Amino acid sequence: MKTPDVHDPSFWQGQPDDELRDLRRTCPVAHHQSEGFWVVARHEDIAQISKDPATYSSAKGVLIGDRKRQVAAADSILYIDPPRHVTQRRIVNRAFTVRRVAELAPVIERIASDVLDAIDPGTPVDAVDAISAPVPLLVIAHMLGVPGEDLPAFRAWSDAIAVAATDPTDPRAIAAADFFVYFNERLDARTAEPKDDLLSAVVADSELTRAEQLGFCMTLLVAGNETTRTLISGGLAALADHPEQRAKLAADESLIPAAVEEMLRWVTPIVAMSRTTTSPVEIGGQHVDAGSYLVMLYAAANRDETVFGADAHEFDVARSPNPHLSFGIGEHFCLGAQLARLEARIVFTEILRRWPDYVVCEGRLMGASTLLRETVKLPILFRPNE
Ligand code: HEM
Repeated sequence: MKTPDVHDPSFWQGQPDDELRDLRRTCPVAHHQSEGFWVVARHEDIAQISKDPATYSSAKGVLIGDRKRQVAAADSILYIDPPRHVTQRRIVNRAFTVRRVAELAPVIERIASDVLDAIDPGTPVDAVDAISAPVPLLVIAHMLGVPGEDLPAFRAWSDAIAVAATDPTDPRAIAAADFFVYFNERLDARTAEPKDDLLSAVVADSELTRAEQLGFCMTLLVAGNETTRTLISGGLAALADHPEQRAKLAADESLIPAAVEEMLRWVTPIVAMSRTTTSPVEIGGQHVDAGSYLVMLYAAANRDETVFGADAHEFDVARSPNPHLSFGIGEHFCLGAQLARLEARIVFTEILRRWPDYVVCEGRLMGASTLLRETVKLPILFRPNE
């Protein structure tokens, strides 16, 4: 079969599940002739690659769009291999502890409640604009200590950086530069006068250069924002598309954590991450040369029947176990996984308590991106409770 054009944003706008299933079955490690990269479709192979950073390096890029540009370690922790990665990860872990995340629960509850209070349930609203975008944005802004008046610029930078991830030549990507100027000033301010926020924790650690500190802020902005937005929008759509599953969840809140894992699997907010081989390898029965760019298709692995069973193509809010790869696995496992889970659990609990029978109206729109499986418009009528 022809290797799918996973580097073409429009590929992800459609419903590629059948193509990805064929790939898993017939050619799980496939070479894309004209583009030169490899795609990896099976859960087992992706796990093996992610757990062996010495053979499969992140230093030449991790996004599909990175293969055509130069990336630098200072840009993001995503591009660092061990042993440097171990040191840097330990530093950012300290700025992002379990305690710090758990302490955020009341803040996230207040943010979710304010955001939902602003919705008139009798009038259709775009749920992306009204819920999925503002909640993660307000949470990460709170963590980074960004004041309310700077939030519109903050959202614009986040969008610009996500655009740059797919197409660095897009004129909108230029706005991302302002982000660095802004955060450079704020990091200076926190160095002079530390507060109890994430930025202060980042500057408190002299082991990170200023370029690394800025790279970390940028990574948090995109990683903590667009991804969680995509999860919430995609989760809202999935529940509406499976009303019997939604009713089951609304009737039993103890299923919320499992349902969020299933939304993560179902939506797969980040469709793929990549690695470059440092030596020749055998993977999935294929010989792959050193220096090859391997695109790990999480979106394919998350439907792998050998892991999720014959019902891998069904949305099941009680699925257990659910070893999805939506947060990656191994060395670079998502730093914000607990935060994203907490946000989604709080948002879905609150929405289902208020409006368990919401209706998705005409006009749903998927974005074109090689990074995010993004719902860009999701008109919803929430319908007031009788
Ligand atoms: C649903 C939401 C999220 C998804 C699907 C997601 C997905 C991922 C994935 C797949 C990776 C692994 C990259 C690789 O192996 O190369 C990753 C890494 C990372 N994520 Fe997330 N993420 C989410 C939310 C967040 C949040 C909320 C934050 C922080 C506020 C965050 C921060 C990071 C960071 C810093 C890394 C890099 C870790 C490292 O390189 O060691 N993510 N994420």
